[in-house]
Amino acid sequence: MRGNGLCAVHLWLAAVSGVVAVSARAQDPAAYFKQNCVSCHTIGGGRLVGPDLKDVTTRQSKEWLAKFIRDPQAVIASGDAYAKKILGEAGGVVMPAIPGMTDAVARSLVDLIESESALAQSQFKGVQVSDRPFLPADVEQGHALFTGHVPLKNRGPACLSCHALPEAGALGGGTLGPDLTKAYERLGGRKGLSGWLSAPATPTMQAVFKSAPIDSEEILPLVACLQEAARNNAAVAAGHGRLAFVITGTALAVAGLVLMNRIWRGRLRGIRSLLVENTRTQGDA
Ligand code: HEC
Ligand code: HEC
Repeated sequence: MRGNGLCAVHLWLAAVSGVVAVSARAQDPAAYFKQNCVSCHTIGGGRLVGPDLKDVTTRQSKEWLAKFIRDPQAVIASGDAYAKKILGEAGGVVMPAIPGMTDAVARSLVDLIESESALAQSQFKGVQVSDRPFLPADVEQGHALFTGHVPLKNRGPACLSCHALPEAGALGGGTLGPDLTKAYERLGGRKGLSGWLSAPATPTMQAVFKSAPIDSEEILPLVACLQEAARNNAAVAAGHGRLAFVITGTALAVAGLVLMNRIWRGRLRGIRSLLVENTRTQGDA
């Protein structure tokens, strides 16, 4: 059952990734920004993983900004003092080079950021996530969405087909996507992760959710579920989750033994027959 699901996902990805590669080229700057930048930046909505870009053209020259957008790593590596400062403010997270970026695209993005900054309300002010505390019901709902128990509204595939269920650790769930236990913290908590999920900018996630975005109503429960996973993980690390550890450990050990048995059964038979063979030849001599 799960095997079939995964297979379908792979086929679909293969089909969809061709579309994304093309769309990175000629596209209007606003659509490009929405697709590739809003997971980490707002314009006037506060910091996510990256700084709020409102009025960034008053902080740096347009020339410099276009160069930075083209190849952030190179500018940072050149020892540029301003780049070092914004890197520090981002907690050391380096802005990735965006696939398909050209000088022309970078310049058009700088112009876009400048004109959006002049508006009272930029269309890129970001998703407004509620500040209310997460409730147990949110975590539960997020869990149901994650596992596919409750299907995603826009028919995106369940997270579990590619990501392990965070609280189950290494057991259960797909392995195409990374472990998400640290995602809440790594991607900037409630606000950062919400923004990220609303328009993921990484290759696989974008390919999957561009045409089937996670609904804004679904983001809060998913974020609540991932925060819970981060908490549980921290508790386990602190030694409060011994039982979970023992269970996971035992299950892994058993799985390991089964695997070893499979691998070695064949080999041992080979070695044994070789030994028998040798003894025979020695006996004959
Ligand atoms: C994965 C997150 C991420 C994505 C995606 C991303 N950025 Fe960034 N961006 C950052 C971070 C973090 C910084 C701060 C510098 C650093 O740490 O590298 C930054 C810095 C910047 C700056 C300089 C900001 C300042 O205050 O001077 C600009 C301009 C910028 N990004 C534009 C863009 C554009 C345009 C896109 C989309 C094509 C984009 N970024 C995509 C994370 C990201
Ligand atoms: C088709 C497989 C697939 C599905 C379905 C999927 N993901 Fe992903 N996810 C990935 C892959 C692969 C990555 C690694 C980055 C990339 O290539 O996009 C990733 C990365 C992420 C990250 C960033 C992790 C980090 O630490 O940087 C988050 C958060 C995430 N996924 C959440 C979700 C959620 C929530 C769902 C369900 C709504 C989901 N994913 C569904 C494959 C998938």
